[in-house]
Amino acid sequence: MRRPLIAGNWKMNGSLALVERFAQAFTTAELPAEVDIAFMLPAPYLPAAQRSFAGLPVSLGAQTLHPEPKGAYTGEISGAMLKEFGVHYVLVGHSERRSLFHEDDTAVLARVRAALQAGLEPVLCLGETLEEREAGSTEAVVSKQLAAVFDGLDESERRRLTVAYEPVWAIGTGKTAAPDQAQEVHLALRQRLAQYDTTLGETARLLYGGSMNKDNAAALLAQPDIDGGLIGGASLQVGDFLAICQSAG
Ligand code: G3H
Repeated sequence: MRRPLIAGNWKMNGSLALVERFAQAFTTAELPAEVDIAFMLPAPYLPAAQRSFAGLPVSLGAQTLHPEPKGAYTGEISGAMLKEFGVHYVLVGHSERRSLFHEDDTAVLARVRAALQAGLEPVLCLGETLEEREAGSTEAVVSKQLAAVFDGLDESERRRLTVAYEPVWAIGTGKTAAPDQAQEVHLALRQRLAQYDTTLGETARLLYGGSMNKDNAAALLAQPDIDGGLIGGASLQVGDFLAICQSAG
């Protein structure tokens, strides 16, 4: 009943040529009909992707947005602007935004609200650092990050989010969480969501992110509470990303 989502987060990587390579490959590839596929692109590539991916069964995503709808915020991009380029998803709370751009839980909630207001689907990212895992506080950390956003939303808003569990120690390091390690946290997140309402616990889409690649994707995606992946490095290689999409089918 939960549709898997495979989302490629290019971060600050790629080129117009790479957008075209993906568009060509995805035009002829066999894509699993039961899997949602998304490209979270650097904002300047969105217009080209909107044109080149037209008619393909893939969605566009952005990597961040500003909490305000408009104004004197030089360099920033609003949800409404993203919408104009056919964007469906937006990442919020990615660990790189939290650590490098100092976005705390309050800032994350403000961006989730802005995304919802603009009609976008927020993908709320959360996850523990290595020290937090070693201190045994993984569940406490992710529950707090989850509650900081979900407490601030009403019932219908909560249903519009996808959540991505991304252990910080697994991002870009080649150290993937073991499937049972990831499953344990996903189950805890689902149980936490069920405290808002049991249906939400069952229907919420929970992605795993952190060094997911074509070789480990199938085992992670086979876990009962993992509904897809948020893929960084491996989403820049056409063949690897296609293989991950296919392993979700
Ligand atoms: O958003 C994607 C995650 O940060 C994972 O990145 O697959 O390069 O580890 P990665």
